[in-house]
Amino acid sequence: MSKEFTERKADYPIDDIYINRWSPRAFSDKKVEKETLFSVFEAARWAPSAANKQPWRFVYAMNEEDRDTFLTFINDGNTSWCKKAPVLIAIVANKRWSEDSNDINPTHAFDTGAAWGFLALEANRKGLVTHAMGGFNREKAKEVLQIPDGHEVFAMVALGYHGDTESLPESLQQREKKSGRHTIDTFIHEGLYS
Ligand SMILES: Cc1cc2nc3c(=O)[nH]c(=O)nc-3n(C[C@H](O)[C@H](O)[C@H](O)COP(=O)(O)O)c2cc1C
Repeated sequence: MSKEFTERKADYPIDDIYINRWSPRAFSDKKVEKETLFSVFEAARWAPSAANKQPWRFVYAMNEEDRDTFLTFINDGNTSWCKKAPVLIAIVANKRWSEDSNDINPTHAFDTGAAWGFLALEANRKGLVTHAMGGFNREKAKEVLQIPDGHEVFAMVALGYHGDTESLPESLQQREKKSGRHTIDTFIHEGLYS
């Protein structure tokens, strides 16, 4: 077993889309049409979820005022590049099994992660790039975006068209590279885990 990162190439045959999706930080000035953005949400809509509860929620910002609001709770290290992204999305889940009970849906995070994965792949198909961010103030995001109780904010996503690496601050230019992955033998287990 090797924990070495492999180059960004599949060891077993898969569709190119999985390799082509990556998370750059450089965004171009090109705006994203609402229709295009809604196609990306449409892909998320078709993710599987426990009991088809569809716990994912997305709050998006695409006008200047809303984008500025999002930037108030995203960490400085991320705002330095994501302020150029034409769309910012908060990935939220309804933690409750139903709107009128306090029972927790144990797979709200799992299902919402699947929806984000679908969203990211469809964005890639549409020629867009996405970059998820965990670096933001969760409490402030909940407050500012008026996220109701019983919901959790998992990540912010910057979405737009890929820009030139040179448009990034110098420190980020070196980081604008595609990453590799561990080999599958490091995370699959036949029969038992150990
Ligand atoms: C939940 C989540 C949180 C992340 N948080 C950040 C972040 O705060 N800042 C950042 O620059 N990248 C962030 N990333 C991007 C990851 O570093 C990136 O997805 C990972 O290195 C794999 O690279 P790739 O997406 O280009 O394949 C985050 C990704 C995910 C899924």
